[in-house]
Amino acid sequence: MPLSRPRRNRKSVAIRSLIQEARLHPSQLVLPLFLKAGKNVREPIASMPGIFRLSLDQILKTIIEAQALGICAVALFPVIEEQKKDRLATESKNPYGLLPTSVTAIKKAFPEILVITDVAMDPYSCDGHDGLVQDGKILNDETIEILCAQALAQARAGADFVAPSDMMDGRVSAIRKALDQAGFTDTGILSYCAKYASSFYGPFREALNSAPRFGDKKTYQMDPANSREALREARLDVAEGADILMVKPALPYLDIIARLKALSSLPIAAYHVSGEYSMIMAAGANGWLDTEKAMMESLLCIRRAGADLIFTYYALEAARLLKLESSKA
Ligand code: PBG
Repeated sequence: MPLSRPRRNRKSVAIRSLIQEARLHPSQLVLPLFLKAGKNVREPIASMPGIFRLSLDQILKTIIEAQALGICAVALFPVIEEQKKDRLATESKNPYGLLPTSVTAIKKAFPEILVITDVAMDPYSCDGHDGLVQDGKILNDETIEILCAQALAQARAGADFVAPSDMMDGRVSAIRKALDQAGFTDTGILSYCAKYASSFYGPFREALNSAPRFGDKKTYQMDPANSREALREARLDVAEGADILMVKPALPYLDIIARLKALSSLPIAAYHVSGEYSMIMAAGANGWLDTEKAMMESLLCIRRAGADLIFTYYALEAARLLKLESSKA
């Protein structure tokens, strides 16, 4: 007879829920939204079934829905028209541009929703890179100047958190300084701290038409083979004044989430990225996986690894399922 019987702790719903370590709650989910100019725009994205490029009016509607489900944060990603893109990502600093004006409108309609804006050049750059390109190279310090101006435009518009996703060196401290000097001491920095050069961003780049026009992002995003480098990035971002650290992608990088959680007492965010969403949706559409179960398991495991909050395209659906579950209980 076995001496220990771990199955005793699994024998009923009651005991399982009593000892459950990780839990998912809608308030821990951040809903990423693709913002497009115009009215009544609801444009499907081929590689992301169920996700749309939305005009501001549609985004406002979506936020009402999100709030009713207990989601309290959105992350905005603008789709910029090709003719507005240039080498210097000039449009990213335009206070009257699509993103800042939409942020202001969202905060006016829903002051309590947390608005997170992405700081990086790629949606605005004709090169499709996160930094300024010269002779095929990505310049670091020149990029930071542009990022600071972009972050300031977003803070002025009312963003609660700016989220540099560019992976340039020293950008967190430079942005912190720029924000503080302009009086935005309450605007937070959610740093994409350990962002890997991943193939899982493909569908996102389709959504924004922002794929690099040459080469790849390996001189600034991290090598998937490395984990100690993530600790180095995390220590730097903590010292530079980040408020939240992010790991991206999520599921293939659970070890990184766990290591950052152990290293820092800052909240840890994880980005369940576009490709992670799309592969479950694709398998689900083929009948190879149960989409709902696979999604919820993925999100729960990201929490178990140590993520306090999760960016996920499945946020609305997950919140709906969680609500259903709690109404049954
Ligand atoms: C832009 C950015 C990317 C993502 C978030 N911000 C793409 C990239 O770095 O190429 C990817 C998000 C996703 O795949 O869902 N700097």
